[in-house]
Parts: sequence; structure tokens; C-alpha cells
Amino acid sequence: MFKFVISLVFLFAVVGVFGQSDDYSDPINNENEIPIPHKFSGFPCPREWTYFPLQGICLFATPELPWDAAEAFCVKYGGHLMSIHGKPSLKAASGMFLDNTNIWIGLNKINDENVWKNTNNATVNYLTWNHLSSFKCGRVFNSELFQNVDCDEPHVGLCQTYSSA
Ligand SMILES: *[C@@H]1O[C@H](CO)[C@@H](O)[C@H](O)[C@H]1NC(C)=O
Repeated sequence: MFKFVISLVFLFAVVGVFGQSDDYSDPINNENEIPIPHKFSGFPCPREWTYFPLQGICLFATPELPWDAAEAFCVKYGGHLMSIHGKPSLKAASGMFLDNTNIWIGLNKINDENVWKNTNNATVNYLTWNHLSSFKCGRVFNSELFQNVDCDEPHVGLCQTYSSA
């Protein structure tokens, strides 16, 4: 009797495992389909991005690229090069790297003669220049100052999105 019960349990287990195989190919029931991993509800930032709650932003580092390629990289991943609006966001930026890395940000004057703009169109309201030259692309220099340099220089950059929290 006991052996019979065991066999029965085993049988149901087998039926249980293999009897449902049809469900997995049902094209209408796609509840298990994983959504594009970008805006998981309940998470303030896309996956792999670093969340800065005080600034309400998410940051993600680019590889070493010329400025326009860094901006294109950010756009591809749903952001823009970072806009810096004061000491807190400057600190967030430099904190993303271990040393005093030069970092591309969105600050540029490639479209207008002498007007600095951010690629995310956020107001330019904080400028902390080390020195100004005629170059058109902005970077963070030595963790705490801005420099404008040749846009073709390869640097790491910081992509930014606004957090959803
Ligand atoms: C910024 O503003 C310009 C001009 O209005 C517009 O063409 C561009 O799409 C805007 N970019 C973003 C990221 O909103």
C-alpha cells in the first residue's frame, strides 16, 4: 500500500511537471515575459545607474570618448550628459570616480557663439571655471572646477537621468 501511494505521488509529480508544458508556448499568456529593464516601478533609477537621492538624479559613467560620442552614448541609454547645478551635484559627479578624473558633462557652446548650454536643456546656473578658453566642450577638472577643452579629447563622461523617486 505504501509503495502504491509513493508510486501515485511520483506519477502526479511527473504529470505535474510535463503536463503543463503547453502553457509555456501560449502566446497570449505572456505574464512571465520580462519587461525591458529600464523603469522597474519602485526603483528610482534604471538598473546599473547610481542613485543620488539628494539631487534626485541617476548617474552612469561612459567609456573614454570624445564629447559628442559621450553625449550620444548617454542618449542611447536614455539620458544626457550631466548638468551640474551646484556643489552637491559637483560632489556627486566627482564621487563617481576614484581619483581626480576629468569628466565630460553636458555643458557646451557648440550651437551658439558664446552661450553655454546643457545637453539636457537644464538651466545653466552654476559655473565654476578654472580658466576659460575658446574651446566648446565642458568637463569637470580636478573634482571641483570646470574647464572648456577640445571636444575631440577622449574622456569618461557622466550620463544623467532624473530619478523617478
Ligand atoms: C533642447 O532644446 C532644443 C531647442 O528648443 C531642442 O531642439 C532639443 O530637443 C531640446 N533637448 C532636450 C534634451 O530637451
